[in-house]
Amino acid sequence: MLKSYVLKWLQTLAGIILVLLLAVTLAGAKSEAPQIAEAPGGLTGKLAPYVPTPLGVCRDMLALAHVSRFDRVYDLGSGDGRIVIMAAEIFGADAVGVELDDQLYEQSSQNVLQIGLQNRVRIIHANFFKVNLRPATVVTLYLLGVVNARLRPVLERQLRPGARIVSHDFPVAGWKPARVETVTGDYGATHTLYLYVRPQAANPQVFPAKSK
Ligand SMILES: C[S@@+](CC[C@H](N)C(=O)[O-])C[C@H]1O[C@@H](n2cnc3c(N)ncnc32)[C@H](O)[C@@H]1O
Repeated sequence: MLKSYVLKWLQTLAGIILVLLLAVTLAGAKSEAPQIAEAPGGLTGKLAPYVPTPLGVCRDMLALAHVSRFDRVYDLGSGDGRIVIMAAEIFGADAVGVELDDQLYEQSSQNVLQIGLQNRVRIIHANFFKVNLRPATVVTLYLLGVVNARLRPVLERQLRPGARIVSHDFPVAGWKPARVETVTGDYGATHTLYLYVRPQAANPQVFPAKSK
């Protein structure tokens, strides 16, 4: 009787130890997963905090991309709308901001209305991973490196040859910048700007050669 009780008890103990070992192993494997798989909120939530680009640096970003009235500028995560408003107001472009945050969407939409730019600037209340970026000739980014890395295949698939991408402070890993500029912000801090240009034969499946 005592023998079978002890045996049962030992079996239960062995089972508990096995479960604990498995849990520890799985936790270890998860923490070794590459950083890129750990983008905050997956691809559905807010992927970067709100930190506005200083106005002087917004101007430097748009100038670096040679934005003109022939352009359609998309700012992915457009905050209070400062980049898209400046692109339209000062550089003469059409512009689209994409902002997920409810308050920032409302605020930036108000800013656009107040300045009377509603015919040139549109703010989309959405996750930028769900927006069609094909119309963009210029894309501006002030996001995290890990988010840029997630965006890279999307930009490669959707952007037309010759489209320019300017990223504030965070490079797009795997792309070679056409220019890197260090500029001084409104409060004396330095900011690095990365300019990328999509190659002419970017993706033959998306931009097939016209048949004769
Ligand atoms: C660092 S701020 C940059 C704001 C603006 N582009 C600028 O340079 O002043 C990043 C912005 O991205 C927005 N954001 C983060 N994840 C997003 C997502 N998945 N879709 C759309 N906007 C997002 C945040 O709410 C925030 O406003």
